Amino acid sequence: MELRRYAQEDIQGKRVVLRSDLDVSVNPEGVVDQYHDLRLERVVPTLSGLFSFGARQVVIMGHRGSPEGAAMPEYSLAPVCERLAELCRAEGLDEPITFIDDLGVEPTSHRDQDLIMLENLRFDPGEKAADSGFASRLARWGEVYVNDAFGSSHRGHASLVLVPRAMGQAFAGPALACEAEELESFLVGIKGPFVAVVGGAKISTKLPLLSLLAQRAQSILVGGALANTILASRGVSMGASLVEAAMLNKASELSGEAFILPGDAVAAGGKVVDIGAVSSNQAVLDIGPETIKLFVQRIGEAKTILWNGPLGAFEESAYARGSEEIARAIAKNRTSRTLAGGGETVELIERLGLIDRFGFVSAGGGAMLTFLVGGDMPGLEAVSL
Ligand code: 3PG
Repeated sequence: MELRRYAQEDIQGKRVVLRSDLDVSVNPEGVVDQYHDLRLERVVPTLSGLFSFGARQVVIMGHRGSPEGAAMPEYSLAPVCERLAELCRAEGLDEPITFIDDLGVEPTSHRDQDLIMLENLRFDPGEKAADSGFASRLARWGEVYVNDAFGSSHRGHASLVLVPRAMGQAFAGPALACEAEELESFLVGIKGPFVAVVGGAKISTKLPLLSLLAQRAQSILVGGALANTILASRGVSMGASLVEAAMLNKASELSGEAFILPGDAVAAGGKVVDIGAVSSNQAVLDIGPETIKLFVQRIGEAKTILWNGPLGAFEESAYARGSEEIARAIAKNRTSRTLAGGGETVELIERLGLIDRFGFVSAGGGAMLTFLVGGDMPGLEAVSL
């Protein structure tokens, strides 16, 4: 897929509608989590680029969470706007960002502000329903459309598909183009041994990726509740551990010697337990020391590494060791090509300060998985040639 990129003459003197990835975590104090702002960091160079090309106004739009078509203050983009303004200032872009909390406001009444962010598009049911009336209203904010929201581009929502159509002049932004290029070249450049590390809670969202990896990877190191579900599907008793019961049949189809499942684990309370000896009241919350050793060894031998999903309940430090050791092992292998992605995975890498030690860290969660397995990316198609 060849993306339509913009040149200076496309932007000069124009009002630009910029669809960005604004879906970041906000902590209970109402502040964007410092380990969750990678998506916002990537908005800044795009904004600088648009202004250096002479954009007359930039109107940023995006979503956060799933408020299901109603205004819910806990999903407001106001804290995101504040954090983005801070990040912009840190990079020398001092333009204030005007936050507009009423999606129905008349664009002409805001012509004098250079930089605007609209409230969460999902506060209007028209966003997810891909409503053409809602899209036409959004399209009135500018003359040129730029999609820079790779992390949302697996969705066929109004701001990703209908607004570009309504505006006619529609381009891919630099962050989106970079994601697509990096993921594409990762797939094309896979060299063996190709080791994938896959964790997280839900196997349902990872099945297509696991099927792809079963064909391409030499080792698929599995952890998290995902591993619990596969182990349970093979008849191993997982006690009180998190298991996706509805997926047991599907999980049992994941076979082959590439799949490497934990041999030991850390249970609630911190006790190390062998898989196969988990008692009925025990819940497994991290991979154990022997499993870490084996996973680290495989990672050390790899020439290509893909990582998506934590290997345990890393939010609690008692169960973070597995995920952290894996992150360090990947960062240490300097001769391999590495790709990581997914909200929690990025958080782990950020916490450990290892972001620069990875070949590429994708800002996409579901979008990265969809792209890698060749699934539909309507947001990308809308800005491709
Ligand atoms: C994400 O975080 O993956 C994107 O913001 C998409 O969110 P969604 O799964 O709610 O559409």
